[in-house]
Amino acid sequence: MLLILKRDNEEVNKQAAQLIASAIKKKPSLTLGLATGNTMVGLYQHLVRLHQAGSLDFSKVVTFNLDEYLGLSASHPQSFRHFMHEHFFGHVNVPPHSIHIPDGSIRGDYDQYCASYEQSIRAAGGIDLQLLGIGRNGHIGFNEPTSSLASRTRLKVLSRETLDDNGKSFGPGEESPRCAITMGIGTILEARKILLLATGASKAAAAAKSIEGPITCAVSASALQLHPDVTFVLDEPAASQLTQRDYYNRVVEMTARLTPDRLS
Ligand code: GLP
Repeated sequence: MLLILKRDNEEVNKQAAQLIASAIKKKPSLTLGLATGNTMVGLYQHLVRLHQAGSLDFSKVVTFNLDEYLGLSASHPQSFRHFMHEHFFGHVNVPPHSIHIPDGSIRGDYDQYCASYEQSIRAAGGIDLQLLGIGRNGHIGFNEPTSSLASRTRLKVLSRETLDDNGKSFGPGEESPRCAITMGIGTILEARKILLLATGASKAAAAAKSIEGPITCAVSASALQLHPDVTFVLDEPAASQLTQRDYYNRVVEMTARLTPDRLS
């Protein structure tokens, strides 16, 4: 686990964009797992800028999004498909057939649909790099507290905390979705590399529990401790409850000297 502590949101975005861009340069046909949420907006802006400057080509990249609300059409302004189009896919050259986002409009056999999403990930050779944000309750994707650490893509009922947080983006009187389709924790742990971004004081407790606390289904992101290649990039407010900040900074210093590839 590598912890990169940055001053602010902008520095987090820059570092994350650099890590993703260099992964694509090393492997142009990268299979990239993508995330939504406010944390990701600045990162996508950086990636779009790199693309528009001609230094980042997504034409061979294949993407899989983590999750989608159930019951929203693709064109709903709060759907994750809409978010991805607005912030990323509408401005870069990922071929439409290489974009995978769970379909929030499906009805009926959810298990079969979720198994087919897993099958598409396998058919693409697995995810090389999975991008993650984190919820205030420690969720990754929509794996709410008490999700099985071995869970796969499935239908998930959203927690009260998530409904409160995400409900704010829906219009007055508009009912926000109560369920979502999300990759499972087991699915996420199969990615070859994981990059988690957290910014702002509201994420400090979840970040500290995930990084320094016990592995528990009560904090889904704590399962990342089981993964051999995870990088967390946090800004100062999100890192404020970590007890070993000095150590993490020394590790980054030594990494820069000994294996600089891991940081760029
Ligand atoms: C949603 C998504 C998560 C995301 C989280 C945090 O619940 N399912 O993937 O990490 O929100 O969002 P934000 O970055 O807006 O705080």
